[in-house]
Amino acid sequence: MASSLEHELSTSRMETVQPGTGFGVLVVEDDEDQLLLTAAQLQKLGFEVSACIDGESAKDILGREKFHAIVCDFGLPGDSGGDILVHVRRHHSDLAFVMLTGHDDVARAVESMRNGADEYLLKPVPPRELATKILDAIEKHELASRAAKKSEFERMVQGMSGMVTSLEVKDRYTLHHSRKVERLAIAIAEQLPDLSDQAKMYIRIGARLHDVGKIATPLTILHKEGPLNDEEWIVIKEHPLHGERITRFLPREVQKIVRFEHERWDGKGYTEGLAEEQIPLGSRLVMIADTYDAICSDRPYRDAMSKDEAVRIIRDGSGTQFDPNLVPVFEKVVNALDHPHE
Ligand SMILES: [Fe+2]
Repeated sequence: MASSLEHELSTSRMETVQPGTGFGVLVVEDDEDQLLLTAAQLQKLGFEVSACIDGESAKDILGREKFHAIVCDFGLPGDSGGDILVHVRRHHSDLAFVMLTGHDDVARAVESMRNGADEYLLKPVPPRELATKILDAIEKHELASRAAKKSEFERMVQGMSGMVTSLEVKDRYTLHHSRKVERLAIAIAEQLPDLSDQAKMYIRIGARLHDVGKIATPLTILHKEGPLNDEEWIVIKEHPLHGERITRFLPREVQKIVRFEHERWDGKGYTEGLAEEQIPLGSRLVMIADTYDAICSDRPYRDAMSKDEAVRIIRDGSGTQFDPNLVPVFEKVVNALDHPHE
């Protein structure tokens, strides 16, 4: 951009009086007067504006700086607005693109829309209308990117959940264990005041994946029928650490539930020896739900115990192994069930 333009733009930026949206916009226009006018108007409406007069500079600036939107004239010397649009869709697909043109040309408009322009506007465009169109286009891109991130997140959770299932089907004693732990942990969480929906979702996923790290534990140890020796215990106790590694692309809250699921309220658990409220709430819930499900399931060395026996054992461990504030909530939830694994 010419230095005189830069000076005028920075002067105009200082004069901005209206509350800004703070969105970064690149304006590309070969008519310098028009460029200055559009840039100044957008700055006054609160955008962070950069400007340039041709396609080559636009590509260069886009490669160096982050923007939310580009406002581009179609008729430029050298690369046209249409060429810039193709470049943007290939290299900066999240960028909102508003095409401006001086000619009412339906064929161009259709081609621009087909190539991914969000808006195609005929000049002159009143500044507030332009601002609205830019904001609409930015919002559209943000919603699309949020949806893409969400589905990526769901795919990852599904993949890890599949790992847990593949582990559980190898062992009749733990079949559906994680699903049952998830169900009970979330049923207790539902009774707690002030837990956001997001926190509950993280607890649900953390409970479901709490033992995912066991896929790194040798099956000879996992399926051993007799008591484990000291070395084998050391290996078993590493599974929350493996779980933390496997869940590293999920939110930190989920990772921490998995990492600290064997911590005890009195600080005598593993892997870190955290105590009381240092332990993430989700891990404290998993500790209760996991123990309950283990007690109520058959084991190689004993039959499943009754719901009442399980509740008694967990009540006995309240304040030592288990969070004493959660145990009464657990009891209330479990007492409402007709069957231990309802
Ligand atoms: Fe575990």
